[in-house]
Amino acid sequence: MKNAKRKTQNSKFDVGSLLNSILHSAFCVLTCTAVQGPVQAEELGTSIAVSRRAVVCDSEPASRVGLEILQQGGNAVDAAVATALAMAVTFPEAGNLGGGGFMLVYPGGGKEPVCIEYRETAPAAAHATMFRPDDSQHGHKIVGVPGTVRGLELAHRTFGKLPWRQLVEPAVRLADEGFTLGAPLATALNNVVASSPDFPELRRVFGKDEGRGRWNADDRLVQKDLAATLRRIAEHGAAGFYEGETARLLVAEMQAGGGLITAEDLKSYRANAREPVHGTFRGFEIFGAPPPSSGGVGTIEALNILENFELNAHDRWSAATLHLLIETMRRVYCDRARYLGDPGFTEIPAKLLEKDYAREQARTIDLERATPSEQLAPEIRLADESESTTHFSVVDADGMAVANTYTLEHSYGSRVVVHGAGFLLNNEMGDFNWRPGHTDRQGRIGTAANQIAPGKRMLSSQTPTIVVRDGRPVLVTGSPGGRTIINTVIGVLTSVLEYEAPLGEAIDAPRLHHQWFPDEVRFEEALQRKHAATIDRLRAMGHRFAAKPSKQGAANSIWIDAKTGQLHGIVDTRRAGAAAGE
Ligand code: DON
Repeated sequence: MKNAKRKTQNSKFDVGSLLNSILHSAFCVLTCTAVQGPVQAEELGTSIAVSRRAVVCDSEPASRVGLEILQQGGNAVDAAVATALAMAVTFPEAGNLGGGGFMLVYPGGGKEPVCIEYRETAPAAAHATMFRPDDSQHGHKIVGVPGTVRGLELAHRTFGKLPWRQLVEPAVRLADEGFTLGAPLATALNNVVASSPDFPELRRVFGKDEGRGRWNADDRLVQKDLAATLRRIAEHGAAGFYEGETARLLVAEMQAGGGLITAEDLKSYRANAREPVHGTFRGFEIFGAPPPSSGGVGTIEALNILENFELNAHDRWSAATLHLLIETMRRVYCDRARYLGDPGFTEIPAKLLEKDYAREQARTIDLERATPSEQLAPEIRLADESESTTHFSVVDADGMAVANTYTLEHSYGSRVVVHGAGFLLNNEMGDFNWRPGHTDRQGRIGTAANQIAPGKRMLSSQTPTIVVRDGRPVLVTGSPGGRTIINTVIGVLTSVLEYEAPLGEAIDAPRLHHQWFPDEVRFEEALQRKHAATIDRLRAMGHRFAAKPSKQGAANSIWIDAKTGQLHGIVDTRRAGAAAGE
């Protein structure tokens, strides 16, 4: 089943602006000169099927950049780095220089997969009780030391083929010459500018006529300060961000606004090449992001629990299947609160990835009744508890796969744009447990594993995931959505791996979310519209549902059909992204 909204343009791309036509000509030339063998048909759309390589992300110009880099002879990591830098220009709500994330790489050719972890870090002056419960989610104090530029540099140093400068150049061009706004981005920019009266630099940089006008679709956004910042990165690598002029501007911004980040915090920031977490499900191998993300551990624990049941003996949308999914989510999120945090500060129990432990967990599920969340962790005393991230997937012609999720935490992060440097800073310190010891039924968590400490990384839910069969990647996926991310990925994996749904159908399918507390199921409107009787049955089993439906995630993914070798690049149409491939 293909979503009726999905569009594929075969061969030549739709050209909507001067820059696009320049990019497009570059595209054709590169396609004809750089690619060995028969010229491939380029495809751009929300659902593409191609034979060699694909990039799927939330921003059309950035997808084009990724494909362009692949056509120039870059591998999937080169394309991912260039796409991430381009999205820092063309998708400012979540694409970033001032945030952090996780890049999962499956290199193929017998090489070990690696997760480049570039999560933000608490500044040296941070401490466990630095926030009050009602402190603002915006402003300087909530900014973590950014990880993106160091992370992209590490990914490139470890795996890249093309020169660094070549990967930064498309982003410089998009910032310097500008790019054409689509309607969703024009609206998003108008909204963030209107709701940010206290952030004049954001209004100046992202507002039309410095905040006095309103953007329309087809207007052009030019970002000169950002272009200069990107040029410093092109020239000096990560040192062009963590030291020198950009670092000076960032530290001055912190000092002016009462933030904690110092020159030393920036200079000492390191990204890590970590071993991904690994599990199996029905003969598939699953690779995920390790702590400080809870994404990989949560996904593998969930699949290990679900493997104890014959899920596909029931319909995908039956009460029996959804009950098992919800009960699994409840247990996984309880363990997340109990155990997970930065592994440099917190010992992560190995059992969370083990089949025996999952079997024990599965045994505690009552097949007829919802388990009240309160029963799961008696040792945790309960007190009376908008956003944006972006995920993209890349596969190259040699079968190297990259799943990258990165974020500013909320849409437009802290709303702080570094004066003169043109980029937004994250509000990732909000992902720590703010109130030590305070865990409540609303979903606030105060457990020790994720309390603030200097130099510590806040727990994430980002879940870039690569599924492998017989040594070859078959699925590259992930999503935004804060704590819902893990459940979005679990839903997609269940549909594809257990129910053998085509990827487009799995991504379009309604989503649901349970996170232990609040003890309720969040769900998408389509679940209510299409499966109202199932919801009634689940209510009768003791499940509570949220008052209103809410949209969940944007899982831009690629399925590689092992039989035909075709790559199916699928955009999650909950957002306005693009898949580009050939
Ligand atoms: O790292 C995390 O888990 C969060 N900061 C992600 C935030 C997010 O996904 C918001 N997205 N839509």
